[in-house]
Amino acid sequence: LAMTLLALAGGYLCGSVPFGLLFTRMAGLGDIRAIGSGNIGMTNVLRTGNKGLAALTLLADALKGTLPVLLALWWGRQNAMGPYPAMGAGLGAFLGHLYPVWLGFKGGKGVATYLGVLLGLAWPGFLVFVAAWVGCAVVTRISSLSALIATLAVPIVLLLFGYGPIAWFFLLMSLIVYAKHHANIRRLLDGTEPRMGQKREAAG
Ligand code: G3P
Repeated sequence: LAMTLLALAGGYLCGSVPFGLLFTRMAGLGDIRAIGSGNIGMTNVLRTGNKGLAALTLLADALKGTLPVLLALWWGRQNAMGPYPAMGAGLGAFLGHLYPVWLGFKGGKGVATYLGVLLGLAWPGFLVFVAAWVGCAVVTRISSLSALIATLAVPIVLLLFGYGPIAWFFLLMSLIVYAKHHANIRRLLDGTEPRMGQKREAAG
């Protein structure tokens, strides 16, 4: 348990680095939290019109989940602890992105970091996520809906394919993603959620 908690803390430190906020600030685009949905993730960085920066945000927010997981996987193997330290590191990174101490615990919605943790812990799940997200995004052009579909599909597929504790772990992560998207879900139901490539005025 001590190792898993240590991995959780290390993961949290990585996850709490708000790359979207840092990149947009470095590019002189102002505070991303004052733009569009006010979120610090790839989708909202895209609303600045800078696609390269949005892609970089996705990559960095995903890798800050993957790297601690891979490190903790290796560490867990050395100490015959199985995937538990890696799950701790992944949860830590995810929670770090959602609740970064540096931003008064007001962080992002966790989709990119979820994807990065998934790549480290169960790469077939990563493929399911990408296929579901891209498929939905091509059809609807709505980022939040694509994330909600992908994070629904992942735990179901992992459970069906016998991933056991890792599947339950991603079910928990998916529930947190859903909770973080409550404002998006309301807009989706109202039919007011913006599509990618479309700017939004009101914050939420
Ligand atoms: O992954 C975040 C996305 O699902 C929603 O972002 O900025 O539209 O709230 P946003």
